[in-house]
Amino acid sequence: MLLEIPILLCLANAALIQAATASLSLNSILSLNFQDLPSPPSFSLPVSPNLTITVAYCSSATVSTRFFVTNNSFVDNPGPDGGEDVFEITVDQGLGTFSAVFLEGGVLAIDGASSDDFSFEIGASDSGPMHEVLAVFPLLGDTTSNQALLFSPPFDPPVFSDPSYPNYTLPGPSLSPPSPPDSSPNFTLLLAPTSPQSLTALPQTACMMSSQTSSGNIANESLWLRDEEGWRTQWIMAGLSPQTNYTAYVIQDSTKLSGPMYFVTKSAVFACPLAAFLPYCPGVTYAIPLPSPDNSDLSIYDSTNLPSAISDTLTAYFTNFTTTLTTQACGRDYYSPLQTCADCQRAYFRWLCSVSFPRCGEQSPSTTTTTSATSSPTPTTDTTTIPSPTSALQPQTSSSVPRNPAFTSLNMSYSVLLPCIETCQAADRACPNFLGFACPLARFNANESYGVGYIDGAEPDGQGLGVPGQAQDRWGNVWCNFV
Ligand SMILES: *[C@@H]1O[C@H](CO)[C@@H](O)[C@H](O)[C@H]1NC(C)=O
Ligand SMILES: *[C@@H]1O[C@H](CO)[C@@H](O)[C@H](O)[C@H]1NC(C)=O
Ligand SMILES: *[C@@H]1O[C@H](CO)[C@@H](O)[C@H](O)[C@H]1NC(C)=O
Ligand SMILES: *[C@@H]1O[C@H](CO)[C@@H](O)[C@H](O)[C@H]1NC(C)=O
Ligand SMILES: *[C@@H]1O[C@H](CO)[C@@H](O)[C@H](O)[C@H]1NC(C)=O
Ligand SMILES: *[C@@H]1O[C@H](CO)[C@@H](O)[C@H](O)[C@H]1NC(C)=O
Ligand SMILES: *[C@@H]1O[C@H](CO)[C@@H](O)[C@H](O)[C@H]1NC(C)=O
Ligand SMILES: *[C@@H]1O[C@H](CO)[C@@H](O)[C@H](O)[C@H]1NC(C)=O
Ligand SMILES: *[C@@H]1O[C@H](CO)[C@@H](O)[C@H](O)[C@H]1NC(C)=O
Repeated sequence: MLLEIPILLCLANAALIQAATASLSLNSILSLNFQDLPSPPSFSLPVSPNLTITVAYCSSATVSTRFFVTNNSFVDNPGPDGGEDVFEITVDQGLGTFSAVFLEGGVLAIDGASSDDFSFEIGASDSGPMHEVLAVFPLLGDTTSNQALLFSPPFDPPVFSDPSYPNYTLPGPSLSPPSPPDSSPNFTLLLAPTSPQSLTALPQTACMMSSQTSSGNIANESLWLRDEEGWRTQWIMAGLSPQTNYTAYVIQDSTKLSGPMYFVTKSAVFACPLAAFLPYCPGVTYAIPLPSPDNSDLSIYDSTNLPSAISDTLTAYFTNFTTTLTTQACGRDYYSPLQTCADCQRAYFRWLCSVSFPRCGEQSPSTTTTTSATSSPTPTTDTTTIPSPTSALQPQTSSSVPRNPAFTSLNMSYSVLLPCIETCQAADRACPNFLGFACPLARFNANESYGVGYIDGAEPDGQGLGVPGQAQDRWGNVWCNFV
């Protein structure tokens, strides 16, 4: 017993000399530069039963820097020599994440050398990582030859409260958009032409991407409730180059990164303008076959300049459909254990929007590259490559009968990207039989009016088994129109 006292004193002395001079407080971020690190280069960590420490590089690291942590209060200087409860935070693509129990706090120490201007951030939190690469990617609405309509990842999904019997009142077509939530994440968008030494080669962190300059210019930025996934920041980007593959990232609150996502602008001859801001068809955020609007700053169609013949017909269909649907004793007589009249109405509205607003499209350049690659003289031994499917495009000439008669002729040839048949099947499934809603069958001529086999496979239970299993991907391919 007597012997232990001097040892403890000794340790206490060592701690006084060596202890970290700087500290990292809970739920905060420190921005650091290698040249002004404290001496010793270590930070005391807060007490938490569930602490997540993150390291994010804000510039490209040239020399290897390593990060060590300990939750053992008897270790002052965790390092490569290890020891009890000494852990290394492994940094991959500029981001390192470490979680553990820190009942007595701990120490984070930086080991190794780096260039003086190497900058990075460290964060400590008791509610998940402060720095993060989000699992959800930005979403492409559509492009023209020089514009792109892009969305952030969603937040705040809407809560549908279905009406109930006997006052089963369904909403009419929305004539104005719902009011946005009071607070939203701060999303910023970053774009650059895709190239091998581009953004993807940098540390994949929010602070690194925030320091890069974006291509194009933001013509409009607003919040939009596009679908039941929730609100998104919607950007209309202008000033882009035709037929160019762009890389896009979305930065959330300066700490989280979503991406990379890719998209391709249309060729210079593509004439269809974008449509957006249509409250009755919130998912219509794509190019439509109408002449360029001449009364719009953004060169897009929105609810203020869309020809009223289109919107009036659509809202009349909406209203008539709702009237017919509610002749059923909605909320009292159940036609399905899974679906309600409100579900039917939502699915029908989506389908009606997708068929009422034809979408202009073009074959993705990557598809053409695949075709020319197969015909190249270089023999390919890779037999596992499945050729990418071609998009559901249907050529229209200036004399073709427009798919929606309310659309005046565009007076030039273009291609329509057909709606995905799953939009139709969803309405068929959700609605009562007496409405007589039916979709064409894949084994007959469904592919003349719909994109068939992309999301779901042909079998009755082929849900998600189509090729490629989705309407579009994050590499810039778009196969059919899913509103
Ligand atoms: C340190 O972390 C390890 C691993 O998570 C854990 O088993 C141990 O209880 C922690 N010690 C303290 C003092 O928090
Ligand atoms: C620690 O925090 C993360 C993120 O908030 C959470 O997912 C996890 O369940 C927590 N673990 C414990 C043991 O509380
Ligand atoms: C029925 O519901 C609608 C919408 O919820 C409401 O505006 C209306 O006042 C209700 N009518 C009655 C009689 O409760
Ligand atoms: C974006 O465009 C919409 C529709 O034209 C308009 O209502 C909104 O005010 C614009 N927002 C900004 C920030 O310009
Ligand atoms: C959003 O983030 C950007 C950059 O990350 C910043 O310049 C801007 O001030 C922030 N806006 C708000 C409202 O916090
Ligand atoms: C809506 O219903 C009315 C009355 O039944 C009918 O006159 C009208 O043509 C219908 N409109 C549409 C777009 O179906
Ligand atoms: C865009 O570039 C990326 C990265 O090179 C590639 O994977 C993707 O297929 C390209 N997209 C298209 C549609 O060509
Ligand atoms: C339609 O195209 C023809 C031939 O290209 C042209 O002569 C005519 O002026 C165009 N009409 C309109 C309304 O643009
Ligand atoms: C539709 O599918 C049939 C066979 O399944 C095929 O012969 C035909 O060319 C397809 N039509 C279109 C427009 O893709």
